[in-house]
Amino acid sequence: MSLLTGSSGGDASAHSEYRQLITLDRPAAPMPMPFGWYCVLYSDELPPKSSMPLKYFDTDLVLFRTESGRAVLFDAYCPHLGAHLGYGIHEEVGHGARVEGETIVCPFHAWRFNVAGEVVEIPYAEKIPPKVRGKRCIRSWSVQEANGAIYTWYHPQRVEPMWEVPDHPEASSDEQWGDQQRYEGLVRTHIQEMAENSADMAHFRFVHRTADIPRWDVNYDKHHSNGDQKMRFQTPKGVAEGSVLTYANGPGHTTTRFSGLCETFLLGLPTPVDASMVHMRFAFTQQRGDEENPLAQALIKNLVSQFDEDKPIWDHKLYRPAPLLCDGDGPIMRFRKWYSQFYDNGEPAQTAN
Ligand code: FES
Ligand SMILES: [Fe+2]
Repeated sequence: MSLLTGSSGGDASAHSEYRQLITLDRPAAPMPMPFGWYCVLYSDELPPKSSMPLKYFDTDLVLFRTESGRAVLFDAYCPHLGAHLGYGIHEEVGHGARVEGETIVCPFHAWRFNVAGEVVEIPYAEKIPPKVRGKRCIRSWSVQEANGAIYTWYHPQRVEPMWEVPDHPEASSDEQWGDQQRYEGLVRTHIQEMAENSADMAHFRFVHRTADIPRWDVNYDKHHSNGDQKMRFQTPKGVAEGSVLTYANGPGHTTTRFSGLCETFLLGLPTPVDASMVHMRFAFTQQRGDEENPLAQALIKNLVSQFDEDKPIWDHKLYRPAPLLCDGDGPIMRFRKWYSQFYDNGEPAQTAN
């Protein structure tokens, strides 16, 4: 008999709450958050003159789009008396920030900031104080829009962006590629632990029940990784051969191109909420005309269920800095060495003992 359920069946929800607690105090992975470009929202979720309070990189943020269409990301708290710029009630816009033209107006005392984070108006002051005038009073983060997503550059020392986000024609719906089909979830782990999945060949067989352990040839080059994986899928009609091309552009932007069953493009966008929580977004696109193809739908369903299969392992696993590995495991330590470049303190990869 378990601790929390009685012989009459007990309280199942209390039991599941108890199970959630089991690994809450496991030691956190020692790595900080890696630097790179990360998705903070999809572009179509932020119309002009709207705003969104967010929390990523262990930082409270406010994202807004100006009237002309520019997406701007600020630290959330006003330098005046500390209001969160993203929370207010306004007659015209309801909840959220008031965005006027190319400025955002604080909901507390209506100080107005331009996109650089400078105060451009204090409606009740005769003059803007000299120590504020012309100065950036709020941190404005670098923003890039591509692939239907809004990305920001995170670096713990605020170093300027070191590369750009590439545009993938497959991700932007056009005559050839259909609309994005999106899924998302929160995972209670360090972002590197999720990324390591791609190099962990044996888990595909045992977690995702592939017909065998796939082969993955990977080339790591600067902040890019390019992989080619041959895989045999178990389908209701038997085993089908497939090829999977993987690409990563730093830690926050990955793509996977599936061929063989039906052409499918997957944009994978993990963003750290903090060092031990990841907001994972997946956007699938398939070729127009394939939407009604049951095989196409089954492939996406299968790939989404792979996330559900990985999640309980990520949510509860421990980071092993020096894992015991065997020859069938895949290039896990090569992956870690490549990934270590995204840490400001250059956490070195360790070898198995
Ligand atoms: S707290 Fe923002 S204007 Fe006063
Ligand atoms: Fe996986």
